[in-house]
Amino acid sequence: MRKLVFVTLVSGIVGLSFSQMDSVESMKAMAMENMKRFMNMPSEKRKEYVKKKEEEAYERGKKLYNAYGCSGCHPGGGNVSGKVMGMPIPSLKGVKERFPKFKAGNDQVITLSDMVNNCIVMFANKKPLPLASRDMRALTYFVSKLR
Ligand code: HEC
Repeated sequence: MRKLVFVTLVSGIVGLSFSQMDSVESMKAMAMENMKRFMNMPSEKRKEYVKKKEEEAYERGKKLYNAYGCSGCHPGGGNVSGKVMGMPIPSLKGVKERFPKFKAGNDQVITLSDMVNNCIVMFANKKPLPLASRDMRALTYFVSKLR
């Protein structure tokens, strides 16, 4: 019985570290593959590719910004007058320069993406977006371009 518990425990730990190893290796392989593909493009193509990817993110972010109703309080990245929950609504122009910073509601230093989630939860009454999701990256990209 003891032996069985020991074997299960050890193989469990070994299995875990193997599978973590696997995913680090596959993440590295994917990054190397992407870089190779990018570097193999002629330089003109590379510029176009970057532009296309950034425009895609911007458009996706803009759609999300409107879908979440961000524009109701921060129209065009500006602000409407009045207060919500006792707080004046700030303009978002140049907001990426103001993050990361401490926020009392989070009781810690947070990033711009965390702040976007704060507004999603507090004011849009929706579930937060996973930080490493394509949607969050696009929405943060769009917000960081407001000026
Ligand atoms: C009901 C009004 C309202 C809505 C809707 C709203 N916000 Fe806000 N937003 C605020 C208020 C109020 C603050 C200030 C909160 C604070 O300081 O903690 C704020 C702050 C922010 C900030 C930080 C600005 C700074 O300079 O510190 C960002 C970024 C932001 N909002 C993005 C968004 C995004 C993106 C959305 C849509 C997902 C959104 N907001 C929806 C009211 C709103």
